[in-house]
Amino acid sequence: MSFDLKSARHWAEELLRQAVGPGARIIDGTMGNGYDTLWLAQLAGDEGRVYAFDIQAEAVERTRARLREAGVENRAVLFHAGHERIAELVPELVDAAVFNLGWLPGTDKALRTRVETTLIAVNAALDKLKEGGLLTICAYPGHEEGRVERDALMDWARALPPQRYDAMIRAYLNQPNDPPVLFAIKKNLSKKPR
Ligand SMILES: C[S@@+](CC[C@H](N)C(=O)[O-])C[C@H]1O[C@@H](n2cnc3c(N)ncnc32)[C@H](O)[C@@H]1O
Repeated sequence: MSFDLKSARHWAEELLRQAVGPGARIIDGTMGNGYDTLWLAQLAGDEGRVYAFDIQAEAVERTRARLREAGVENRAVLFHAGHERIAELVPELVDAAVFNLGWLPGTDKALRTRVETTLIAVNAALDKLKEGGLLTICAYPGHEEGRVERDALMDWARALPPQRYDAMIRAYLNQPNDPPVLFAIKKNLSKKPR
């Protein structure tokens, strides 16, 4: 039998399919071309809601067009705003939050995610998670700024209190060019201290 270990985005998708179902509330912290916003909206169904963020108007337009074409525009609220405003703009608790860091392929790399605002956003996302909720973050250590972001997220995730969160990283160890890594954090308020 032949199989493939796949990539960080795929690992995130596998976990999210367990955490999210019809009616789910989800934050998409980086809407980009809207691929994630769309499949999350499809997963959440007609009663669900995706709150999606991007600093680029172009990303919001592309995402809106993609959702409209699929007939699911009503399932998403698109914010032309940085994800550092999650605390202020997301009006309810969510089942999952999803970040795919870096820049939008084909646009200005200067408009990439930044470690300072990423940390504000992932903390706000954890605050918005329901008990049992899941946060996934795909990070891209193959370039300098991405490496800094990955390392800061490692420190941040390691420091999360173990009674409240399970925090893990999944990464290739021996591949060239530092492929993307996945952080997955599960919130579990009722968990007993280990
Ligand atoms: C790798 S792309 C996201 C891909 C997207 N999830 C998709 O399915 O196409 C990263 C995105 O993060 C956005 N971004 C950068 N800084 C941001 C911030 N502070 N808040 C929200 N989005 C940001 C970029 O504009 C870019 O569109």
